[in-house]
Order: sequence, then C-alpha cells, then structure tokens
Amino acid sequence: MAPQPAAEPRAPRLDPSAIVLLPAPQDADEKAARLDEIRERHAATCPHCTRARGHRNMVFGEGSPDAEIVFIGEAPGETEDELGRPFVGPAGQKLDEMIRAMGLRREDTYIANVLKTLPPDNRTPLPDEVERCGPFLIEQLLAIRPKAIVALGGPATKLVTGTDQGITRLRGTWQSWTPPAGSGCPAIPVMPTYHPSYVLRNYTPKVRGEVWGDLKRVLELLGRRPGGANASES
Ligand code: URA
Repeated sequence: MAPQPAAEPRAPRLDPSAIVLLPAPQDADEKAARLDEIRERHAATCPHCTRARGHRNMVFGEGSPDAEIVFIGEAPGETEDELGRPFVGPAGQKLDEMIRAMGLRREDTYIANVLKTLPPDNRTPLPDEVERCGPFLIEQLLAIRPKAIVALGGPATKLVTGTDQGITRLRGTWQSWTPPAGSGCPAIPVMPTYHPSYVLRNYTPKVRGEVWGDLKRVLELLGRRPGGANASES
C-alpha cells in the first residue's frame, strides 16, 4: 500500500480559565512590567514547562513590549535552549534576515514561541503540550497588543487562529486572532507564513518569494515600506 501522508495535527484548544485577564496596560512601561510578571509566573507554574525534562533553559520570549509586530515560532531549538533566547540559532539568523528585509530591527519586534521549553528530540510541539503552555503566550499577546501577528509555521498558526488547517493552505492569507472574551482586546490580524527552518530546508525562489510576499502584506497593513520608510512619509 502506498504510504499515507501524516494526518494534520489538530489545533490546540486552550482552557480560557487558564488565562489570567488583567486590565489593558496603558503604556510601554506597564507592558514591560506585565511581561516580567508573566515570565515569573510562567517559570514557577507552567504545567508543561515546570514538568518538562531534558532542557536547560526556559525561553520566554524577548523584544519590545510595545512592538507593532509579534513573531511566533514553535519551540526553542538546541541553541535557544542553551542561551535561553528565542530564534538565535540557524532559524533565528533567517528570521533576523527577514526582519531586516522588512526594514525593521529585531529589538523593535517581539519574538516568542508556542512552547517555552525544548521538546524531546527537538520535535514539533504536541497539541496537549501547547494547551498547557499556550495560555502564557496568550497573556504575552494581551500585554503587548501588537498591530499584527506573524505566525511562523503550523503550530503557531493553529494556536492563534484555532483552525485545524495546515500552514500550506493558510499561508499568505489574512487570519485573525480572537482574544479571550472579557480581555477588552480587539481582534488582531494574523499573517501565517512558513517557518524559517522550512525556508532553510526548502531554499527555492518559490518559497522565498512566498514568504517575502507574506511579509510585505504585513508591512502594507502597518503603512510601512520594506526600506523602513513610513509609507505615509514618502
Ligand atoms: N525554532 C522556533 O520555532 N523557535 C525558536 O526559538 C527557534 C527555532
């Protein structure tokens, strides 16, 4: 019998009661303080990460608390696990290149993952793992309230859109993150695109062009141009 394609993993279903809802932070300082509080609570209480084994560091996320764009990946890899920072290995170098091509600086964006600890054998996060750790990422999004989310790959896209569809179908199409009821946060546009690791493994003009097209749509939404100039200024 011909080999069957692997079934698409389902989207995680987060328990709304696991998400701590607080009033919207009013400025960048309040956002930074909120993120610090979430970081500490995550490290002490995350039902997934506090029980996970075989990792060296939790990787909370980093960047500007006031970022217009949040990039969400899957989970720390080996280099991220060693350094405790997101996207600092080979996939991170590719992401940095993508951010620079957008005319942005990495430190002006915020970068996080659906899981904050290295999965065993560096495998794709499982839906039930994301269900335990994901509420903290949702709280990070509620603290930052960016203007756009770039979901890098399938797990991030599934978490923020709640859809079971795969990345190949959704990439390049505007989706939306619906924040939890009672959060007072408006829906935020989501652009799903290929994960930088996928780009590195499939380094073709087609794949690179598709990702660049997706990123340009995000810039258009924000009224920016790839060179960094604000579209309304020139
Ligand atoms: N891949 C991810 O999804 N996240 C990282 O932080 C690094 C590699």
